[in-house]
Amino acid sequence: MNAVRLPVTRPPSTRIIPMTRRHIPRAVELEAQAYPRGWSRSVFRSELDQVGRGGRRYLAALEGRRLVGYAGLWVVAGTNGSEAHITNVVVDPERRRCGIATRLLVMLAREARESGVTGWTLEVRASATGAQELYRGFGFAPAGVRKAYYEHGEDAVVMWCHSIGDDGYDDLLDHLDQGDR
Ligand SMILES: CC(C)(COP(=O)(O)OP(=O)(O)OC[C@H]1O[C@@H](n2cnc3c(N)ncnc32)[C@H](O)[C@@H]1OP(=O)(O)O)[C@@H](O)C(=O)NCCC(=O)NCCS
Repeated sequence: MNAVRLPVTRPPSTRIIPMTRRHIPRAVELEAQAYPRGWSRSVFRSELDQVGRGGRRYLAALEGRRLVGYAGLWVVAGTNGSEAHITNVVVDPERRRCGIATRLLVMLAREARESGVTGWTLEVRASATGAQELYRGFGFAPAGVRKAYYEHGEDAVVMWCHSIGDDGYDDLLDHLDQGDR
């Protein structure tokens, strides 16, 4: 009897590269799917123009040539060394829970550590409990609330992680990179 060859379905491999202007059109589509009022082309252009000299870093996750996620960081001088603010993290709704945001954040965290960042922070919608869970895995904890920060009066939860500069944080990043939570 002939062996039946079943089709092999492998998850597409995801590459992480610096985000550029050519990713903007798809990023604007993903914004519209992620937020009530997402970033426009001009906001992305302005953010990407500040990569390097303005302390911004943006990474894109690609599957083939398709943009499936992106994340950004803004590194600023703080009172106790440099601080980093996560400006945005979005993953294609069809590719969520596959570790893409984790990979983006691991790479941003490594770059931030190389720049001497000692603390990183972000604002997240109070309703975005999944995103808060993602950040908890990176050692973030709630540090305050900004009332009615978003459209429709939604509160923002401010989260901070002060251990990003610690020696042991590299081990955490290695674990997260390997898919261990
Ligand atoms: C939040 C977001 C970026 C997560 O992207 P993702 O690629 O799906 O995240 P990951 O697969 O790396 O998730 C890592 C972990 O985070 C937690 N997590 C992520 N999404 C979650 C969800 N919807 N519910 C519960 N936990 C979630 C889980 O612990 C998950 O690990 P697990 O899948 O092994 O359980 C994505 O859902 C998104 O784009 N949301 C809309 C935009 C947004 O809210 N961004 C955050 C702005 S501050």
